[in-house]
Amino acid sequence: MAQTLIAEKPEHAEGVEHVLERAFGPGRFAKTSERVRERGAVFEPGLSRVALNAAGEVIGVCRIWRAEAGQPVYFLGPLAVDPDAQSGGLGLALVQACVAACRAVGGGAIVLVGAEKFFAPAGFTRVPDGRVSLPGPTDPARLLWQALRPGGLDKIEGELRAPR
Ligand SMILES: CC(C)(COP(=O)(O)OP(=O)(O)OC[C@H]1O[C@@H](n2cnc3c(N)ncnc32)[C@H](O)[C@@H]1OP(=O)(O)O)[C@@H](O)C(=O)NCCC(=O)NCCS
Repeated sequence: MAQTLIAEKPEHAEGVEHVLERAFGPGRFAKTSERVRERGAVFEPGLSRVALNAAGEVIGVCRIWRAEAGQPVYFLGPLAVDPDAQSGGLGLALVQACVAACRAVGGGAIVLVGAEKFFAPAGFTRVPDGRVSLPGPTDPARLLWQALRPGGLDKIEGELRAPR
């Protein structure tokens, strides 16, 4: 299937909600990652990516938020691909496109909550225990990060919160 990855725009909002609903189901607002976003992380549509099919419909999304944990960091999520379009490499391509976008604007690091097995090929590794916390219960094995430049992780510490 032909797919295009582009920065998210307001006109994609409805399609994004549809994909999130189909991919995650009703439990998605209970996630601790949602607490980070509710508490003032700043949505960065220009660094987020949507995947469009040949008809121009949204079939995938990966969002980026500006946050802080001892230093400015980007927070990645939610990532979702419509169930009908999964297992074709689109999820990984969306993550890689967001990583490239964050690096291109000079970002230091990205933090996310997700499966290490899935995100490792995009360059993410597990955060050492205790370095970063989220405002809610988080499985430490799912707290991942990536430096976008040398030393990009050095000053990260504490709770992920809204940027100053
Ligand atoms: C996770 C998701 C975005 C992957 O999208 P995708 O387009 O299928 O991804 P890719 O094709 O690049 O990679 C697929 C592979 O990722 C791996 N994978 C997917 N979800 C995984 C998970 N939760 N844990 C570990 N590996 C996972 C599988 O090995 C899969 O391979 P398979 O199709 O042969 O089983 C999609 O499955 C989705 O929307 N899931 C529901 C929402 C969700 O869980 N989002 C991620 C939150 S961390």
